[in-house]
Amino acid sequence: MSPTDPTTASSLLTVEGVSKRFGEIEVLRSVDLRVARGEVLAVIGASGSGKTTLLRCLNGLEVPDAGRVAIADTAVDFSSRPAPRELRALRDRSAMVFQHYHLFPHRTVLENITEGPLVVQRRPRDQVHDEALALLERVGLASRAGAYPHELSGGQQQRVGILRALALRPELLLFDEPTSALDPELVGDVLTLMRDLAAEGWTMVVVTHELQFAREVAQQVAFVDEGRVLEHGSPAQVLRAPREERTRQFVHRLLHPL
Ligand SMILES: Nc1ncnc2c1ncn2[C@@H]1O[C@H](COP(=O)(O)OP(=O)(O)O)[C@@H](O)[C@H]1O
Ligand SMILES: [Mg+2]
Repeated sequence: MSPTDPTTASSLLTVEGVSKRFGEIEVLRSVDLRVARGEVLAVIGASGSGKTTLLRCLNGLEVPDAGRVAIADTAVDFSSRPAPRELRALRDRSAMVFQHYHLFPHRTVLENITEGPLVVQRRPRDQVHDEALALLERVGLASRAGAYPHELSGGQQQRVGILRALALRPELLLFDEPTSALDPELVGDVLTLMRDLAAEGWTMVVVTHELQFAREVAQQVAFVDEGRVLEHGSPAQVLRAPREERTRQFVHRLLHPL
């Protein structure tokens, strides 16, 4: 881990040359990204292109084979195998929201939100509890604090998944297709919460197929193709006037299914 590095002072997240292979498959090929504090980066790309693996590499859930990831002043160089302590430091800087929510089924909504702050971060119980209730109130779910995940709709479960991430007070929020498991009528509430978080200044990396959301909320869009960032730029450029033929085809298929 290095102290504050002047070259990354302007970006909250810096990804340089990140590569990852699983056996014979090169899943990520020298990915570079930069996200400024308070910015939203939308990541788009076909199934199997490496989007989830990329998020997992940012969160220390996968260890890249090469490259460098820095979040705020925590930088990890993967040219040699990092120490577990370094990976933990990197992991603590971000929090992930999963496609299938990944809530603990045998814990209440409140316990799902307080688990990380209490067990991992060892913060004071009263403070963690009060913060969790305030988060639930903010999304209108305070009355469900004692419910179990299966008693909630998918949209409610995903909002709890987002609150669980917020409760960790991370620098960076990572979203892996947060609405793609939801029935269409439940997508809106989740996107509304994400819009509010962006407006509040959270720094977010969002893997999504919701192009309208990307257009409205993101400052940058990256198109991932076969483990590479094939194209990135403003939503207006990447989504409306893509330079690459493969980006154009992908966006066209999303906008005009069948
Ligand atoms: N743990 C793993 N072991 C082996 N192959 C994996 C593993 N995780 C992902 N892959 C492969 O890596 C590729 C990219 O996967 P993924 O990152 O999940 O893509 P996406 O999220 O864009 O659909 C796929 O070919 C997938 O099968
Ligand atoms: Mg995925």
